[in-house]
Amino acid sequence: MAITGTDTGAAATCIQQGLLVAMPTETVYGLAADATQETAVLKIFEAKQRPFFDPLILHVPSVAAAENFAVFHDPRLKQLAETFWPGPLTLLLQKKDNIPDLVTSGLPQVAVRIPAHTMALELLQKCGLPLAAPSANPFGYVSPTQASHVEKQLGGKIAYILDGGESRVGLESTIAGIEDGRLCVYRLGGLAIETIEKVAGPVTLRLNVSSDPKAPGQLKNHYAPRKPLLAGDIDRLLKENQDKKITLICFGTCHISDKNITVLNLSEKSDPEQAALHLFKFLRMADENETELVICGFVPDTGLGRAINDRIRRAAAKA
Ligand code: TXA
Ligand code: MG
Repeated sequence: MAITGTDTGAAATCIQQGLLVAMPTETVYGLAADATQETAVLKIFEAKQRPFFDPLILHVPSVAAAENFAVFHDPRLKQLAETFWPGPLTLLLQKKDNIPDLVTSGLPQVAVRIPAHTMALELLQKCGLPLAAPSANPFGYVSPTQASHVEKQLGGKIAYILDGGESRVGLESTIAGIEDGRLCVYRLGGLAIETIEKVAGPVTLRLNVSSDPKAPGQLKNHYAPRKPLLAGDIDRLLKENQDKKITLICFGTCHISDKNITVLNLSEKSDPEQAALHLFKFLRMADENETELVICGFVPDTGLGRAINDRIRRAAAKA
């Protein structure tokens, strides 16, 4: 089993030895390895059972470090990095040759971000290496927001789990890049589109909702719990499933009291940030409790709410 602790020096040594470390970030926990060592990166794919066509995000401690491995090929990218890093924004930059093709699945661009978490930054500084890190969950499952989530599912495959407490944002980073001169967002996440637009101008959404394996972070049935999940109008869905034991994930006012229904409220005070923080944890709880079906309502579709609804839709989608 992995050692769980708060010793960033010990974790940095593991990274330098080519081993896997679970790294807390403000979005979700990452499964990190030295991005410059192919054999170390391979271990990530093996541990997660992740297909090689799904590229990894490179984590660095500074904009200068990013420039060692990638080129900001458009001024908007630099501007976004300088405004929002460290933070829940990943930028697709032109890759330099010192990053193995395995990290980017052979693509000419590399996804880069600086995580906003003291322990992650300490780890990056102490090991002196860029870290390739996808979310630390088995491929296709819900991302972890606590060290215990990682330990339960991947503990046997990781050398050290850095316990940095509960992730502050709870949703993965927003992914942005430039395509045909346009600023595009490929994955909704912890940084709202509206906030990006204020800094860098209009954004085009390129969210892939098909099962296109070329953009796997966008796979329709990603982020999914094991139990069946229905999303939409709560009253109708409850009526249609009266005979079942249900976990109900709701938002805001929700007065349901029934012995067959376990109610998990994303945010009683209708706060999207709190809802983002709770969603993945609640999906895991629903998977572990006695109920047989999960019913989930949508949240208002603005700001962070759009990313939350995106994850709910994907959790509900069947392959
Ligand atoms: O918040 C996050 O982004 C977390 C933390 C750990 O940083 N990481 C994360 O990684 O969510 P992951 O691997 O679960 O999702 C990364 C997604 C990939 O599925 C892929 O769609 C996209 O980022 N991606 C990575 N590199 C890319 C590239 N070169 N071109 C296009 N998309 C890329
Ligand atoms: Mg992931």
